[in-house]
Amino acid sequence: MNSNLIASSATSDKIQARELTASEIEEIEHEKTLYPDKQAVGLEALKIVQKHQGWVSDESLLAISRYLDIPVSELEGVATFFNLVFRRPVGKHVMLFCDSVSCWIMGCENIRAHISQKLGIDYGETTADGEFTLLPVPCLGDCDRAPVMMVDENQHRNLTAEKVDAIIQQYRNNEPGEQGS
Ligand code: FES
Repeated sequence: MNSNLIASSATSDKIQARELTASEIEEIEHEKTLYPDKQAVGLEALKIVQKHQGWVSDESLLAISRYLDIPVSELEGVATFFNLVFRRPVGKHVMLFCDSVSCWIMGCENIRAHISQKLGIDYGETTADGEFTLLPVPCLGDCDRAPVMMVDENQHRNLTAEKVDAIIQQYRNNEPGEQGS
């Protein structure tokens, strides 16, 4: 399952650009002062919209395209390459589960299976209550503390089934926190 949650109809004539909010525009304008390169600003704009809207709809993609005068196809390419731009709705919390070699060696598949069984979702899926989306990602850069996953902005390391249960409960209680070693 591709973690990019790609939709591909942004070029359809039926899609109308949405209005960017004042906050989105303010933040995009700030990025323009930091990056001379239009594509880099485009990526930052995608991330800004995702931060505010939860994901990047076709309507948002068109809005960014028009605002920055970057072709939709180019922005779509950036979104595809940068696989943390979500092009479909995601849950309130996004679980990015490391699916690379060190985590494999440390038994991440058993942990992944535990999460899937506990939440009733596979990679690329969202729980029925809209709380969690589970996505595979390449190495999260914490190999010596594998298995590892990131939930929203927080990295969780040395995962065990018990630790995962506690993490899920914490997020359900709105008390996210690092579960490191
Ligand atoms: S392989 Fe999982 S953190 Fe590096």
